Amino acid sequence: MTEPDTAKPVVVIPGDGIGPQVIEQALAVLDDLDLGLKFDVFDHVHASTYLAEGHPLSDADLRTIRESAGVLLGAIGDPRVRTPDYARGVLLRLRFELDLYVNYRPVRLLQDRLSPVRDAGRRLIDCAVVRENTEGLYVGVGGVMHQHTEHETAVDVELSSYRGVTRVIDFALKTARRGVCMVDKSNAVPNGGGLWQRCWAAARQRPEIDRSHLYVDAATARLVQDPTAFDVIVTTNSYGDILSDLTAQLAGGLGLAPSANLNPDTGLGLYEPVHGSAPDIAGTGSANPIGAILSAALMLERTGYATAAAAVRAAVSHSVAAWRCTPDIGGDLSTQQAGEAIRAALH
Ligand code: NAD
Ligand code: IPM
Ligand code: MN
Repeated sequence: MTEPDTAKPVVVIPGDGIGPQVIEQALAVLDDLDLGLKFDVFDHVHASTYLAEGHPLSDADLRTIRESAGVLLGAIGDPRVRTPDYARGVLLRLRFELDLYVNYRPVRLLQDRLSPVRDAGRRLIDCAVVRENTEGLYVGVGGVMHQHTEHETAVDVELSSYRGVTRVIDFALKTARRGVCMVDKSNAVPNGGGLWQRCWAAARQRPEIDRSHLYVDAATARLVQDPTAFDVIVTTNSYGDILSDLTAQLAGGLGLAPSANLNPDTGLGLYEPVHGSAPDIAGTGSANPIGAILSAALMLERTGYATAAAAVRAAVSHSVAAWRCTPDIGGDLSTQQAGEAIRAALH
């Protein structure tokens, strides 16, 4: 936890699709809190810039971000761009170059009615996926042979390092309240799986914390069967990507889920909803702003404004309980009105 540094601005990247709308609501909440935060809005980082210039995020942008208090991002992704180069040029570039090695994705069920889990006892969902964020299948190592022929052969390397695995397990253990479940596929993926197993066995911190291990297929089934069995799940980049969409849905849907990309050593963080740019609803004014607002709350919590973060969470819970929310979670409000309802609850 760092001291509040109101001299440095928060860089805001609204991005694509529903990103600008949900970020507008998150910024309105932050403004209402009157914390003296300053914002540097990067309105130029989106798919049109990538399509026109080939580089969505410049080196100068990256330098500004390194000096910032943190980054608040909406979503990156546009149906006009079908190659991974664009996401790699913004989101993955930020995660990798700023060494944001933890992707912390908490979920808490705000309202009983939002859960698909039928048994009431199983709805006390309050857990977090701690996703390794700078290695795994996302390193971009690999290649293609015989492209565009029937002999095309493609390789994407899944990389795990002792340092990378050790440091994310360390964060998971430090963050846990009840227990940590390590999730891998070491029964089928021998090299990386073996490394994850050894790093897990070697981690000695927090002996009072419950520890368990599941293979990713069994973890998926167990999450649906009883999500209350989990506190912190620590796992690889790609398994964490998938499992955090599942946990988001168990707690009411993608529109509600926040995330924090963190480097606990430098203190720098990139905060963004778990969801993407949702092209299917972009422009309808119906995107749920809660994922973005709770991401802003995560930013507040980790930059020394714990009280303000708690107030935002309480306001979100209050407005969901009063059905003052968007259609994806059963309400009939627009993005703007749902944001206003949360701000009204804040006062
Ligand atoms: P998505 O998360 O954008 O949408 C999945 C489904 O959830 C859609 O039906 C969408 O309407 C719904 N949804 C998402 N957010 C919502 C919200 N706030 N309120 C209500 N409904 C919501 O995933 P996708 O469709 O697979 O991806 C769309 C684009 O976003 C792609 O280009 C993808 O690469 C990108 N993406 C970006 C990020 C990011 O920037 N962090 C994350 C995921 C996907
Ligand atoms: C996420 C997204 C990204 C990921 C995509 C857009 C590259 O799905 O933040 O979960 O896979 O990490
Ligand atoms: Mn994802």
